[in-house]
Amino acid sequence: MSDPTRFQLPGVAASLSGSIAGLPETPISEVAMTVFGDPDVVPMWFGESDIVTPAFVRDAAARGLQAGETFYTWQRGIPELRAALSAYTSRLYGIDCPADRISVTTGGMQAILLSCQLLLDPGDNVVIVSPIWPNITSAAKLVRAEPRYVALDRRADGGWSLDLQKLFDIVDGRTRAIFVNSPGNPTGWTMSQDEQRALLDFARRRGIWIMADEVYARLIYTRPVAPSFLELAGPDDPVLVLNSFSKPWAMTGWRLGWLTHPAGLGDQFAKLVQINTSGVPGFLQRGGVAALEQGDAFVDEMVARCRAGGEQVFQRLSALPQVRIARPEAAFYAFFSVEGVTDTLAFCKKLAKEYKVGLAPGEAFGPGGQGNIRLCFASGAERLSRGLDRIEAAIKAL
Ligand SMILES: Cc1ncc(COP(=O)(O)O)c(C=O)c1O
Repeated sequence: MSDPTRFQLPGVAASLSGSIAGLPETPISEVAMTVFGDPDVVPMWFGESDIVTPAFVRDAAARGLQAGETFYTWQRGIPELRAALSAYTSRLYGIDCPADRISVTTGGMQAILLSCQLLLDPGDNVVIVSPIWPNITSAAKLVRAEPRYVALDRRADGGWSLDLQKLFDIVDGRTRAIFVNSPGNPTGWTMSQDEQRALLDFARRRGIWIMADEVYARLIYTRPVAPSFLELAGPDDPVLVLNSFSKPWAMTGWRLGWLTHPAGLGDQFAKLVQINTSGVPGFLQRGGVAALEQGDAFVDEMVARCRAGGEQVFQRLSALPQVRIARPEAAFYAFFSVEGVTDTLAFCKKLAKEYKVGLAPGEAFGPGGQGNIRLCFASGAERLSRGLDRIEAAIKAL
């Protein structure tokens, strides 16, 4: 988020790279800036829980720091973390996923950007299933690729579904990748294994990459884990699976994620990591090892917390006749519409300023997002209740 006190140098934008100067502030930041620093606002706009990383993870990182792990480290992650990720993936999906297919990144965000840097040249396009977290569009634009969208369809029950044929139809000769975030932010839509299989067959036939963002794979309320492209893709298939410690282990501030890719791409990712960040601090990676090896009970707690939060939000909002909302099935967002509210950016600004509750406007999430509002429910009941009281008051006053 930009700092409102920053210097505004006249004409400076014209002297910057067009790919960054031309990127707009996201509408989520626009809303947040209207009440910048106001402690009374109940924040439900960003995608994180209100609990601190569990102590056993913090302790493991602290031990690494105390032991002096302060030097430059492996570009693709310390061997212990890559081995732990390999074991975790094998355990979760019952597949063999050797460590040479895994590279550690500075959060899921950097996994996205590295993947764009690896695959996309200026003028290429990437087909993105939307509504979608806006940073994915921004990463594509930063490497001067064209984001193209295929919007999910809203079903009568308020849920979402993908018309795969629509996706196939917008792929053309300049399409280098298809970006699928499942379970999805902001919708919670989850791609079925059959749909994944059909998409993978298409990608293989057409020589196109799949960028599968699976950062919410563990946060699903209808089954133990969401279907993953890792269960279908062979070791040399054109598939990159992006993941992160942020959501399941409450580690958003750690900036720790990983990529699973064909083994032959390890050297390319090592180069890209070196140029971008030169690696994730070694002592932080120790926290990642602890999360993977001892963190299953915590993930269960997180899932239970989010399931309860989603249910609380669903019960309160679905009781309002103006609200159209589906029971959340995955990820940790409610994405709902309010009858009579078409400009959700203006409505979210009003909610922030007058009602002191922070929500994200649907415009931020690309085609299919307009007219909806995103609420993150990864919080405790008391905070959610305070936020919901304010949202209800605003809706009743319409
Ligand atoms: C869909 C999606 N992908 C990736 C990320 C990146 O997560 P992080 O960079 O915190 O690991 C987020 C964060 O909100 C997300 O919603």
